[in-house]
Amino acid sequence: MIRYIDEIDCADKKIFLRVDFNVPLDENARITDDHRIRAALPTIRYALENGAALIVASHLGRPKGKRVPEMSLVPVAERLSMLLERQVDMAPDCIGPEAEKMSASLQPGQILLLENLRYHKEEQANDQNFARALASLAQVYVNDAFAVSHRAHASVVGVPAFLRECAAGFLLKNEITYFKKAMHEPARPLLAILGGAKVSSKLGAIENILPKVDAIIIGGAMANTFLLAKGIPVGRSLVEPDLKETAISIMKQAEAADTRFLLPVDCVVASDISPDADYRTVPVGDIPEDMMVVDIGPETVDLYRQVISEAATIVWNGPMGAFEIEPFSKGTMKIAQAVGSSQALSIIGGGDTDLAVSMVGEADNVSYMSTGGGAFLMLLEGKELPGFKALEDCGSMTGE
Ligand code: 3PG
Repeated sequence: MIRYIDEIDCADKKIFLRVDFNVPLDENARITDDHRIRAALPTIRYALENGAALIVASHLGRPKGKRVPEMSLVPVAERLSMLLERQVDMAPDCIGPEAEKMSASLQPGQILLLENLRYHKEEQANDQNFARALASLAQVYVNDAFAVSHRAHASVVGVPAFLRECAAGFLLKNEITYFKKAMHEPARPLLAILGGAKVSSKLGAIENILPKVDAIIIGGAMANTFLLAKGIPVGRSLVEPDLKETAISIMKQAEAADTRFLLPVDCVVASDISPDADYRTVPVGDIPEDMMVVDIGPETVDLYRQVISEAATIVWNGPMGAFEIEPFSKGTMKIAQAVGSSQALSIIGGGDTDLAVSMVGEADNVSYMSTGGGAFLMLLEGKELPGFKALEDCGSMTGE
């Protein structure tokens, strides 16, 4: 059983708080979206108000074990400090004498941010000595880093094994609660909207949710593989021909489970995936040989909107097309609007999907925007996240 931070005594304890502050930065190292930082604030505030000394750790980007200055957490410390309206000190490294000294002198109600965990290759390797060194900074482990909980990294699974008390933060609690509401005890009809480029990356999720949902809407380039499997030529579109048989079997499973499986009926085709490309709308049966599918068409939008309006629970992961390019963004944006204006419990996961929902101003109208991409997908696959298991196995390396 996972315990939550409000079930443990924080007073006068040093807490190692793993968060996911892997936020996007522009070329001037300015944070362009601080959703992930804001999402961890309830846990941080709770711990500080209840007398903990908080040692916060995160990764940023993929520096592959090197000190890459562009991936420093300094801008994050500044933003966190602004949001909390208090000083957030920053240790120049996550382990070593300075981190140890700063952690040791941290007082109840104070907060320290450690520098990027992935400056050490031992983080991703889940090196036991590295995990022990991180754990030695604190007495309690708290995980509020849902978005990295699918990674068996040192700060996710190693550190909790070396500490005797572990808990999940409020962000993790929200993620778990909303996911359970949607997938374990859903109000019906339950609709899954799956988009994105590849069937292969969503295969596990599709197979796991097929028997559970009432309808699945497919969009994005992954729809091409299903169209091809139905014998519909897709021109130069992104497609996974190797997965034709798998796609046929998925459609058969959907039929057997009485799950509506919806594919586009029309689409926007373009000569290229570029803003200057020629493009037009065609029925899916008329995709020209020399063009590629880049968005769902207006008839598909109408069809999908209807299904969305009938749903009582919606889980959405992945865009409907190449939405980052303006002329091809309409399908995804219209679906985002439809989900935002629906009365259903709606859960959105994955960076692109979150972005689309925010771009059309619907972020406050969906029930929950998950902070996870890969982690959210792993939940959809029905697998246990290593970070969750580590909380349950807390202290397994302490010899107790
Ligand atoms: C994410 O952005 O999905 C998480 O922070 C995990 O990052 P990673 O894919 O580099 O492990």
